[in-house]
Amino acid sequence: MKTAIVTGASSGIGREFAIALSKKGFHIIAVARRKDRLVELSQNLESCEIFPCDLTKREECFRLYHEVRSKNVSIVINCAGFGVFGKFETTDLDRELDLINLNITAVHILTKLFLKDFRAKNKGYILNVSSSAGLMPSGPYMSAYYASKAYVTSLTTAIATELSEENSNVYAGVLCPGPVDTEFNDVAGVKFGVKSISARECVDYALKKMAERKTVIVPTFTMKAAIIGQRFIPRKATSIIAGEIQKKKTLI
Ligand SMILES: NC(=O)c1ccc[n+]([C@@H]2O[C@H](COP(=O)([O-])OP(=O)(O)OC[C@H]3O[C@@H](n4cnc5c(N)ncnc54)[C@H](OP(=O)(O)O)[C@@H]3O)[C@@H](O)[C@H]2O)c1
Repeated sequence: MKTAIVTGASSGIGREFAIALSKKGFHIIAVARRKDRLVELSQNLESCEIFPCDLTKREECFRLYHEVRSKNVSIVINCAGFGVFGKFETTDLDRELDLINLNITAVHILTKLFLKDFRAKNKGYILNVSSSAGLMPSGPYMSAYYASKAYVTSLTTAIATELSEENSNVYAGVLCPGPVDTEFNDVAGVKFGVKSISARECVDYALKKMAERKTVIVPTFTMKAAIIGQRFIPRKATSIIAGEIQKKKTLI
Protein backbone atom coordinates (compact mmCIF):
# COMPACT_ATOMS: atom_id res chain seq x y z
CA MET A 1 0.00 0.00 0.00
CA LYS A 2 1.32 3.44 -0.93
CA THR A 3 1.60 6.06 1.79
CA ALA A 4 0.69 9.75 1.79
CA ILE A 5 1.99 12.10 4.49
CA VAL A 6 -0.26 15.05 5.20
CA THR A 7 0.86 17.79 7.58
CA GLY A 8 -1.84 19.98 9.08
CA ALA A 9 -4.22 17.01 8.93
CA SER A 10 -6.14 17.93 12.09
CA SER A 11 -8.16 20.66 10.37
CA GLY A 12 -9.24 22.41 7.18
CA ILE A 13 -7.42 21.74 3.90
CA GLY A 14 -5.00 19.17 5.34
CA ARG A 15 -7.84 17.16 6.86
CA GLU A 16 -9.62 17.09 3.49
CA PHE A 17 -6.41 15.96 1.77
CA ALA A 18 -6.15 13.09 4.25
CA ILE A 19 -9.79 12.06 3.63
CA ALA A 20 -9.51 12.34 -0.18
CA LEU A 21 -6.22 10.43 -0.41
CA SER A 22 -7.52 7.74 1.94
CA LYS A 23 -10.51 7.28 -0.41
CA LYS A 24 -8.01 6.84 -3.25
CA GLY A 25 -6.45 3.90 -1.36
CA PHE A 26 -3.46 5.53 0.34
CA HIS A 27 -2.25 4.72 3.83
CA ILE A 28 -2.28 8.12 5.56
CA ILE A 29 0.26 9.51 8.00
CA ALA A 30 -1.62 12.38 9.61
CA VAL A 31 0.58 15.06 11.17
CA ALA A 32 -0.40 17.97 13.46
CA ARG A 33 -0.20 18.97 17.15
CA ARG A 34 -3.76 18.20 18.29
CA LYS A 35 -3.69 14.46 18.99
CA ASP A 36 -7.42 14.19 19.78
CA ARG A 37 -8.29 15.58 16.34
CA LEU A 38 -5.87 13.18 14.64
CA VAL A 39 -7.29 10.21 16.56
CA GLU A 40 -10.83 11.17 15.50
CA LEU A 41 -9.69 11.47 11.87
CA SER A 42 -7.83 8.14 11.90
CA GLN A 43 -10.90 6.34 13.25
CA ASN A 44 -12.83 7.44 10.18
CA LEU A 45 -10.22 6.47 7.58
CA GLU A 46 -9.49 3.05 6.11
CA SER A 47 -5.78 3.03 6.93
CA CYS A 48 -4.26 5.86 8.92
CA GLU A 49 -1.59 6.38 11.54
CA ILE A 50 -1.17 9.59 13.45
CA PHE A 51 2.01 11.53 14.10
CA PRO A 52 1.37 14.24 16.68
CA CYS A 53 4.18 16.79 16.64
CA ASP A 54 5.03 20.46 16.58
CA LEU A 55 6.61 21.24 13.22
CA THR A 56 7.87 24.66 14.37
CA LYS A 57 10.61 22.59 16.02
CA ARG A 58 13.29 21.60 13.55
CA GLU A 59 14.10 18.34 15.36
CA GLU A 60 10.44 17.27 15.03
CA CYS A 61 10.66 17.67 11.23
CA PHE A 62 13.72 15.39 11.19
CA ARG A 63 12.03 12.91 13.57
CA LEU A 64 8.99 12.77 11.27
CA TYR A 65 11.15 12.07 8.24
CA HIS A 66 13.31 9.38 9.89
CA GLU A 67 10.34 7.57 11.44
CA VAL A 68 8.24 7.37 8.27
CA ARG A 69 10.64 7.35 5.30
CA SER A 70 10.70 3.52 5.12
CA LYS A 71 6.90 3.33 4.80
CA ASN A 72 6.63 3.40 0.99
CA VAL A 73 5.93 7.14 0.99
CA SER A 74 4.82 8.34 -2.45
CA ILE A 75 3.01 11.59 -1.63
CA VAL A 76 3.99 14.41 0.74
CA ILE A 77 1.49 17.22 1.28
CA ASN A 78 3.07 20.06 3.25
CA CYS A 79 -0.10 21.79 4.39
CA ALA A 80 0.45 22.90 8.03
CA GLY A 81 0.63 26.67 8.24
CA PHE A 82 -0.89 29.75 9.81
CA GLY A 83 -1.09 33.53 9.45
CA VAL A 84 -0.50 36.49 11.75
CA PHE A 85 -2.54 39.63 11.22
CA GLY A 86 -1.51 43.18 12.11
CA LYS A 87 0.85 46.04 11.43
CA PHE A 88 4.42 44.69 11.29
CA GLU A 89 5.76 46.85 14.15
CA THR A 90 3.01 45.66 16.51
CA THR A 91 2.71 41.92 15.75
CA ASP A 92 4.23 39.44 18.19
CA LEU A 93 7.79 38.50 17.26
CA ASP A 94 7.72 35.01 18.82
CA ARG A 95 4.54 34.16 16.94
CA GLU A 96 6.09 35.36 13.68
CA LEU A 97 9.23 33.31 14.31
CA ASP A 98 6.95 30.28 14.79
CA LEU A 99 5.25 31.21 11.52
CA ILE A 100 8.62 31.28 9.74
CA ASN A 101 9.58 27.95 11.35
CA LEU A 102 6.34 26.28 10.24
CA ASN A 103 5.45 27.96 6.93
CA ILE A 104 9.04 28.10 5.64
CA THR A 105 11.58 25.98 7.55
CA ALA A 106 9.45 22.85 8.04
CA VAL A 107 8.34 22.93 4.39
CA HIS A 108 11.95 23.41 3.28
CA ILE A 109 13.28 20.52 5.42
CA LEU A 110 10.56 18.01 4.50
CA THR A 111 10.71 18.94 0.80
CA LYS A 112 14.48 18.49 0.65
CA LEU A 113 14.57 15.20 2.55
CA PHE A 114 11.71 13.51 0.71
CA LEU A 115 12.83 14.92 -2.64
CA LYS A 116 16.17 13.13 -2.27
CA ASP A 117 14.37 9.82 -1.63
CA PHE A 118 11.95 10.39 -4.50
CA ARG A 119 14.81 11.29 -6.87
CA ALA A 120 16.55 8.04 -5.98
CA LYS A 121 13.37 6.11 -6.87
CA ASN A 122 12.50 8.51 -9.73
CA LYS A 123 8.91 8.75 -8.52
CA GLY A 124 6.81 10.53 -5.92
CA TYR A 125 4.73 13.67 -5.47
CA ILE A 126 5.40 16.70 -3.27
CA LEU A 127 2.66 19.31 -2.99
CA ASN A 128 3.43 22.40 -0.93
CA VAL A 129 0.45 24.43 0.18
CA SER A 130 1.23 28.08 -0.39
CA SER A 131 -1.52 30.67 -1.01
CA SER A 132 -2.61 33.22 -3.57
CA ALA A 133 -0.71 35.48 -1.12
CA GLY A 134 2.40 33.69 -2.34
CA LEU A 135 1.82 35.00 -5.86
CA MET A 136 1.51 38.64 -4.78
CA PRO A 137 4.42 41.10 -4.37
CA SER A 138 3.60 41.76 -0.69
CA GLY A 139 0.77 41.88 1.84
CA PRO A 140 0.67 44.79 4.26
CA TYR A 141 -1.00 43.90 7.62
CA MET A 142 -0.17 40.24 7.02
CA SER A 143 3.39 40.85 5.89
CA ALA A 144 5.18 37.82 7.35
CA TYR A 145 2.47 35.46 6.10
CA TYR A 146 2.65 36.81 2.52
CA ALA A 147 6.45 36.71 2.62
CA SER A 148 6.43 33.12 3.90
CA LYS A 149 4.12 31.99 1.12
CA ALA A 150 6.21 33.82 -1.51
CA TYR A 151 9.12 31.68 -0.28
CA VAL A 152 7.12 28.46 -0.64
CA THR A 153 5.94 29.38 -4.14
CA SER A 154 9.41 30.43 -5.31
CA LEU A 155 11.17 27.40 -3.81
CA THR A 156 8.70 24.89 -5.21
CA THR A 157 8.55 26.31 -8.73
CA ALA A 158 12.37 26.36 -8.82
CA ILE A 159 12.49 22.68 -7.79
CA ALA A 160 9.85 21.85 -10.42
CA THR A 161 12.02 23.47 -13.11
CA GLU A 162 15.11 21.54 -11.94
CA LEU A 163 13.11 18.30 -12.06
CA SER A 164 11.71 18.98 -15.51
CA GLU A 165 15.18 19.81 -16.89
CA GLU A 166 16.28 16.34 -15.75
CA ASN A 167 13.14 14.72 -17.23
CA SER A 168 12.43 13.41 -13.76
CA ASN A 169 9.20 11.58 -12.97
CA VAL A 170 9.15 13.24 -9.57
CA TYR A 171 6.48 15.91 -9.20
CA ALA A 172 6.82 19.12 -7.18
CA GLY A 173 3.89 21.50 -7.18
CA VAL A 174 2.48 24.39 -5.22
CA LEU A 175 -1.15 24.98 -4.28
CA CYS A 176 -2.10 28.68 -4.18
CA PRO A 177 -5.71 29.01 -3.03
CA GLY A 178 -7.59 32.21 -2.31
CA PRO A 179 -9.94 32.16 0.71
CA VAL A 180 -10.93 28.68 1.89
CA ASP A 181 -13.42 28.08 4.69
CA THR A 182 -11.28 26.52 7.48
CA GLU A 183 -10.02 27.45 10.96
CA PHE A 184 -7.34 29.66 9.37
CA ASN A 185 -9.19 32.92 10.08
CA ASP A 186 -9.80 32.10 13.74
CA VAL A 187 -6.09 31.35 14.19
CA ALA A 188 -5.07 34.58 12.40
CA GLY A 189 -7.83 36.63 14.08
CA VAL A 190 -9.44 37.83 10.85
CA LYS A 191 -12.57 37.32 8.76
CA PHE A 192 -12.75 37.03 4.97
CA GLY A 193 -13.49 40.12 2.90
CA VAL A 194 -14.27 37.97 -0.16
CA LYS A 195 -16.20 34.77 -0.81
CA SER A 196 -14.49 31.55 0.26
CA ILE A 197 -14.60 28.03 -1.19
CA SER A 198 -14.86 24.82 0.83
CA ALA A 199 -11.78 22.82 1.77
CA ARG A 200 -13.19 19.87 -0.18
CA GLU A 201 -13.54 21.94 -3.39
CA CYS A 202 -9.98 23.17 -2.93
CA VAL A 203 -8.59 19.66 -2.39
CA ASP A 204 -10.56 18.01 -5.23
CA TYR A 205 -9.23 20.65 -7.62
CA ALA A 206 -5.67 20.33 -6.29
CA LEU A 207 -5.60 16.53 -6.69
CA LYS A 208 -6.98 16.78 -10.22
CA LYS A 209 -4.29 19.29 -11.22
CA MET A 210 -1.58 17.33 -9.41
CA ALA A 211 -2.52 14.27 -11.49
CA GLU A 212 -2.15 16.49 -14.58
CA ARG A 213 1.29 17.49 -13.20
CA LYS A 214 0.50 21.21 -13.08
CA THR A 215 3.16 23.10 -11.10
CA VAL A 216 1.25 26.16 -9.84
CA ILE A 217 -2.31 25.29 -8.87
CA VAL A 218 -4.77 28.14 -8.36
CA PRO A 219 -8.34 27.07 -7.61
CA THR A 220 -11.23 29.27 -8.87
CA PHE A 221 -11.47 31.46 -11.93
CA THR A 222 -11.78 34.67 -9.86
CA MET A 223 -8.48 34.09 -8.10
CA LYS A 224 -6.73 33.16 -11.37
CA ALA A 225 -8.03 36.40 -12.95
CA ALA A 226 -6.88 38.45 -9.93
CA ILE A 227 -3.40 36.93 -10.07
CA ILE A 228 -3.05 37.56 -13.81
CA GLY A 229 -4.55 41.07 -13.49
CA GLN A 230 -2.07 42.20 -10.81
CA ARG A 231 0.84 41.54 -13.20
CA PHE A 232 -0.24 44.62 -15.17
CA ILE A 233 -0.33 46.89 -12.13
CA PRO A 234 2.80 48.53 -10.63
CA ARG A 235 4.20 46.64 -7.63
CA LYS A 236 3.53 49.51 -5.19
CA ALA A 237 -0.11 49.79 -6.27
CA THR A 238 -0.60 46.02 -5.87
CA SER A 239 0.84 46.25 -2.37
CA ILE A 240 -1.60 49.06 -1.47
CA ILE A 241 -4.56 47.06 -2.82
CA ALA A 242 -3.45 43.94 -0.92
CA GLY A 243 -3.17 46.04 2.26
CA GLU A 244 -6.70 47.41 1.79
CA ILE A 245 -8.04 43.86 1.36
CA GLN A 246 -6.24 42.77 4.54
CA LYS A 247 -7.62 45.75 6.53
CA LYS A 248 -11.17 44.69 5.59
CA LYS A 249 -10.50 41.35 7.29
CA THR A 250 -10.10 42.89 10.75
CA LEU A 251 -12.44 41.39 13.33
CA ILE A 252 -12.40 44.41 15.61
N1 LIG B 1 -7.90 28.96 4.61
C1 LIG B 1 -7.45 29.77 3.66
O1 LIG B 1 -8.12 30.71 3.26
C2 LIG B 1 -6.12 29.50 3.03
C3 LIG B 1 -5.84 30.15 1.82
C4 LIG B 1 -4.61 29.92 1.23
C5 LIG B 1 -3.70 29.08 1.81
N2 LIG B 1 -3.98 28.47 2.99
C6 LIG B 1 -2.97 27.59 3.58
O2 LIG B 1 -3.53 26.31 3.76
C7 LIG B 1 -2.81 25.62 4.78
C8 LIG B 1 -3.80 24.94 5.71
O3 LIG B 1 -4.54 25.96 6.38
P1 LIG B 1 -6.09 25.82 6.68
O4 LIG B 1 -6.76 26.90 5.96
O5 LIG B 1 -6.55 24.44 6.49
O6 LIG B 1 -6.09 26.26 8.22
P2 LIG B 1 -6.42 25.44 9.55
O7 LIG B 1 -7.79 24.86 9.47
O8 LIG B 1 -6.12 26.39 10.65
O9 LIG B 1 -5.35 24.25 9.54
C9 LIG B 1 -4.00 24.47 9.85
C10 LIG B 1 -3.35 23.15 10.15
O10 LIG B 1 -1.96 23.37 10.46
C11 LIG B 1 -1.64 22.65 11.65
N3 LIG B 1 -0.58 23.29 12.41
C12 LIG B 1 -0.57 24.56 12.89
N4 LIG B 1 0.55 24.76 13.61
C13 LIG B 1 1.25 23.59 13.59
C14 LIG B 1 2.47 23.17 14.16
N5 LIG B 1 3.22 24.00 14.91
N6 LIG B 1 2.91 21.90 13.94
C15 LIG B 1 2.16 21.04 13.20
N7 LIG B 1 0.99 21.38 12.63
C16 LIG B 1 0.53 22.65 12.83
C17 LIG B 1 -2.95 22.68 12.45
O11 LIG B 1 -2.99 21.61 13.38
P3 LIG B 1 -2.73 21.74 14.96
O12 LIG B 1 -3.28 23.07 15.41
O13 LIG B 1 -3.49 20.56 15.50
O14 LIG B 1 -1.26 21.61 15.12
C18 LIG B 1 -3.97 22.45 11.34
O15 LIG B 1 -4.10 21.08 11.10
C19 LIG B 1 -1.92 26.65 5.45
O16 LIG B 1 -0.59 26.49 5.00
C20 LIG B 1 -2.49 27.98 4.97
O17 LIG B 1 -1.52 28.99 4.92
C21 LIG B 1 -5.17 28.66 3.61
